[in-house]
Amino acid sequence: MDTVIDIKNVSMRFNMPREKIDNMKEFFIKFLKRQLDYEEFVALSDISLEVKRGEVVGIVGLNGSGKSTLLKIISGILSPSEGSCEVKGTISPLIELGAGFDFELTTRENIFLNGSVLGFERAFIKEKYDEILDFAELRAFENVAIKNFSSGMIARLGFAIATLVKPDILIVDEILAVGDYLFQQKCEQRIADMMSGGTTVLIVSHAIEQIQRLCTRVVWLEGGRVRMIGDTLEVCNKYLAPNE
Ligand SMILES: Nc1ncnc2c1ncn2[C@@H]1O[C@H](COP(=O)(O)OP(=O)(O)O)[C@@H](O)[C@H]1O
Ligand SMILES: [Mg+2]
Repeated sequence: MDTVIDIKNVSMRFNMPREKIDNMKEFFIKFLKRQLDYEEFVALSDISLEVKRGEVVGIVGLNGSGKSTLLKIISGILSPSEGSCEVKGTISPLIELGAGFDFELTTRENIFLNGSVLGFERAFIKEKYDEILDFAELRAFENVAIKNFSSGMIARLGFAIATLVKPDILIVDEILAVGDYLFQQKCEQRIADMMSGGTTVLIVSHAIEQIQRLCTRVVWLEGGRVRMIGDTLEVCNKYLAPNE
């Protein structure tokens, strides 16, 4: 089977100066004295992962373990400090809730805005407009500014637009957990449809049951490193009871 995501020895460091430097002279003196003090934060270190076409891979780990950073590297939003990440095909990234939305605008306006951010033609969005409203269950809120919405409503809207066409790779970062039970079921159904159409899916979720239902393989990140990778049940059981 063909590899669609090939991550080789990826590390990601964020550099933050520990203290404020006011001028070039100070910078130069500190530089010569080797006193320049950066707080280097390693968000990911030496991650390697190969994902085949049609796989549904879950990523689990505590907050701050590097899950979103890894998804951003795969989506091309961040470039890794070291290593390489090769991706084949189109990606729909659902990474940050509300990214690509303008909260002052209405549902209707945001459907067109977000659709164009994702690269859809206006005519295509028009044609799909009703389907989006229905899937997101926002018909009654068509002309309401989305700043009034709950996070669940925003997630529904984002998911409905991002999954309008089948991308080669769908990335879902903690979005599904926001919606209610019925909406989660609908999303899972749509993800299942995509899987049968050959879409590769990467899911981050704190809802382990959801990971267990959907994923064929799971990666467990801990402190920016791969702690475990493999069979869904095996990794989830270990993740939930690491000391047993
Ligand atoms: N742009 C950034 N600048 C500095 N630190 C960051 C940045 N993005 C993420 N981090 C840090 O990297 C670590 C991993 O973050 P993240 O990938 O968001 O974790 P997760 O999604 O698993 O909760 C966190 O400690 C976070 O504070
Ligand atoms: Mg995250």
